[in-house]
Amino acid sequence: MDISMKRRTLLKVIVLGDSGVGKTSLMNQYVYKKFHRQYKATIGADFVTKELQIDDKLVTLQVWDTAGQERFHSLGAAFYRGADCCVLVYDVNADPTDPEAFPFVLLGNKIDVDGGNSRAVSEKKAREWCASKGNIPYFETSAKEDYNVDEAFLCIAKTGMINE
Ligand code: GTP
Ligand code: MG
Repeated sequence: MDISMKRRTLLKVIVLGDSGVGKTSLMNQYVYKKFHRQYKATIGADFVTKELQIDDKLVTLQVWDTAGQERFHSLGAAFYRGADCCVLVYDVNADPTDPEAFPFVLLGNKIDVDGGNSRAVSEKKAREWCASKGNIPYFETSAKEDYNVDEAFLCIAKTGMINE
């Protein structure tokens, strides 16, 4: 088939993750087959493109590298909205299931809706998932009914203080 006849697809991919986990390095390896030992923090966001063929389609991957360092975080919601795929990178030497290395809390919100009868995710399923990820604290909440909101945020505050 003539290459011009093939279907072309543009995919926007966003790479997210903490500073220094290797986001830029992964992209440089993929696109340029290069690796630099020296760390140079990404400032803002920039993209590289890579063309690949998948079945009969020509795919242009537009891969957006983002800055892990907090002081460079300035991307608006519109930036994420157009994404076709989000990639979350972490460093296996900093265990994300270790609450001290990667503190987070999961909130299952809107439990007031339909008295809970129309839920897609059961509380049991959510709790099992959290348990399997190294006991992530889990709260079932309703912002509407003010159910468990104070309790959740107290836990969030305590979890945020783990590394203080
Ligand atoms: P920010 O731009 O600050 O968000 O960081 P980043 O996630 O883009 O990290 P970057 O790719 O700049 O890599 C950080 C450091 O880790 C650099 O010194 C890299 O050489 C090193 N590094 C990245 N990937 C690997 C890897 O797979 N193995 C090893 N050993 N080192 C890596
Ligand atoms: Mg970077």
